Amino acid sequence: LANGLGRTPPMGWNSWNHFQCDITEDLIKETADAMVSTGLADLGYQYINLDDCWGELNRDSKGNLVAKSSTFPSGIKALADYVHSKGLKLGIYSDAGNLTCSKKMPGSLGYEDQDAKTFASWGVDYLKYDNCDNNNIDPKERYPRMSEALLNSGRPIFFSLCEWGSEDPAIWGKSVGNSWRTTGDIEDKWESMTTRADQNNKWASYAGPGGWNDPDMLEIGNGGMTTEEYRAHFSIWALAKAPLLIGCDIRALDDTTKELLSNSEVIAVNQDKLGVQGKKVKSNDDLEVWASPLSGNRLAVVLWNRSSSKAMVTAAWSDLDLEPGTSVDVRDLWLHSTQSSVSGDISAELESHACKMYILTPI
Ligand code: DGJ
Repeated sequence: LANGLGRTPPMGWNSWNHFQCDITEDLIKETADAMVSTGLADLGYQYINLDDCWGELNRDSKGNLVAKSSTFPSGIKALADYVHSKGLKLGIYSDAGNLTCSKKMPGSLGYEDQDAKTFASWGVDYLKYDNCDNNNIDPKERYPRMSEALLNSGRPIFFSLCEWGSEDPAIWGKSVGNSWRTTGDIEDKWESMTTRADQNNKWASYAGPGGWNDPDMLEIGNGGMTTEEYRAHFSIWALAKAPLLIGCDIRALDDTTKELLSNSEVIAVNQDKLGVQGKKVKSNDDLEVWASPLSGNRLAVVLWNRSSSKAMVTAAWSDLDLEPGTSVDVRDLWLHSTQSSVSGDISAELESHACKMYILTPI
């Protein structure tokens, strides 16, 4: 979307994966505090995004959306002011239908201009726009209405389409939003995470600065996967230029989760200015190679063992479209070490579900 936003994939946090409807203004403020105190804000995580359930079921007498008085008694404007005072941005959630998916709040269908103006007046910086209760009206009609309304709202607002991929939003989303979901909801499970990576991969060529494929938010830190599975989750999301929206409770980060989410070298791949989505370039019996061109003629490469036993995974130069004989420096982004002048291939013995992530720099 030509609103100047999302030139690199958005980074931040969203309440849904960990808290679902159990959200309050105190939780959101504490999350903003934690974003800063953990150092995550300095690494680029800037959006603090409310998901479903922040509002009252009924609009006010003028038809305006209202924050839920029991859980957000100070209102969204005060919350946005607080989040902004921390140097962060506030995201909000609505739905391109009559009711949101929780059925606990009204959607914005038919209220697009009014709601966009409300969000702008509150100082909102990001809108996630869900797809429940939509009267079966074509999303290609419903989403552009809100897109227009946001453009006319007087405030730059990142627009995240949450259509779940069924109407191929990658094809029409670029002029409508800054990101579009390519999948249904992620669950905190290996099977769910890998399926989302694969479904999203199909649309790689449609992503770029201003508009990104969204395989859904991160589950890292929520406890349902192993550390190596979470490392792969983060590596692949980064390589695929997916939004990096943390979905755990960052007020209580354990060391491992913090190390995974704080890897500045992996984040730099995601935020690379070239903005090309990496893809799966080879798959043999669940032994996979994913690669992405980066600025400066570099390449990001993930070797990933998706099989159920330990295995050697190899990327040959031909898999990476490198000329035979090309010499590269190989930076291991998780070990933070460099091997000089490598040519021919790179390989690693990997435990089940583990990955390696590298940047290859031609010499
Ligand atoms: C469906 C979306 O895909 C989820 O990410 C979340 O926003 C829920 N709806 C909220 O009801």
